[in-house]
Amino acid sequence: MQLRLLLTTNGADDRYAVESSAGSARSWKADVIGAWRRSSRPTHRFRDKLDVIVYFNGQFAPKDDVKVSPDDRGFLFGDGAYEVIRSYGGRLFKAKEHFERLQRSLKALRIDGASVERLSDIARDLIQRNDLGTTDAALYIQITRGAAPRNHAFPDGQTPPTVYVAITPFQPSHQKWERGIKIILVPDRRWTRCDIKAVALLPNVMASQQAKECGAAEAVFVRDGVITEGSHTNFCAVFEGQLVTHPRTHHILAGVTRGVVLELCEKLGIPYQESVIHQERLREASELMILGTTTEIMPVVQVDGWQVGDGKPGPVTVRLQRAFAELVNA
Ligand code: PDD
Repeated sequence: MQLRLLLTTNGADDRYAVESSAGSARSWKADVIGAWRRSSRPTHRFRDKLDVIVYFNGQFAPKDDVKVSPDDRGFLFGDGAYEVIRSYGGRLFKAKEHFERLQRSLKALRIDGASVERLSDIARDLIQRNDLGTTDAALYIQITRGAAPRNHAFPDGQTPPTVYVAITPFQPSHQKWERGIKIILVPDRRWTRCDIKAVALLPNVMASQQAKECGAAEAVFVRDGVITEGSHTNFCAVFEGQLVTHPRTHHILAGVTRGVVLELCEKLGIPYQESVIHQERLREASELMILGTTTEIMPVVQVDGWQVGDGKPGPVTVRLQRAFAELVNA
């Protein structure tokens, strides 16, 4: 059997330890790195792919044994909802908020019959079965309208939804969190129910690939001159010390990380406003960041080739990163 090593964090940590001791003037950096280092879990030597255990329609099974029907509406139409939840050292972060959003997505899509209440037990079981109780991981949940002969309208009420849950080791992006990333702006060609976390993600996939081909880490959407959100993240800007992010409308996903960041602003006394950010004002921002479950709080230092502020993560971003790191390790 061939063993695959999927997660190693130690090399990156060591490199940053050296860099931080050299830059004593930047004490915040040492704090953030300290929190990250405390959060570093033991290296996870991932088991053989055949041994990866997932949950599929009521059963735990090796991933390779799962057979999804070609009639599944998730496969045929992208007809389903999903969630991604981080686990830090075996503990799910903001699980309740993710499950509530999943309930909202399923309700909006009129997908009935899935027991969202059971998901936290399933998640805990998967963490144990995959030996991820002390490492960082990302949980993926997908619920589709089930398998039925292809027909656009819903199948009859007897069709059970398809429920899939999997967990994979997660490698934190220490270098990107510290240095920041580049983004590109792209037209928002998505539908107008972006508040639903739907499986159908073609415009997001196309935008993300465009970013990758431009050497950027994220594509951020612009709708009618307004910055909405990224292909898989929410977006924030800082204008004169005030954090601004798009209001919670149908044009964005109400990100769990976005909610946490607004709570942290409240706690830290950072002024914030949920209002639209016009593309033409973007260059006036002193700091930009993207937020998400796997992205956490990511500084943006370049947009379409122009530099944000002095090209380094700014003070508001760093304060939030530090508070976020403390929260996930609490
Ligand atoms: N993406 N906006 C979009 C379009 C997203 O897909 C996501 C999450 C977010 C941030 O939401 P949260 O903070 O709840 O993760 C905003 C997930 C992680 C993904 O698709 O992998």
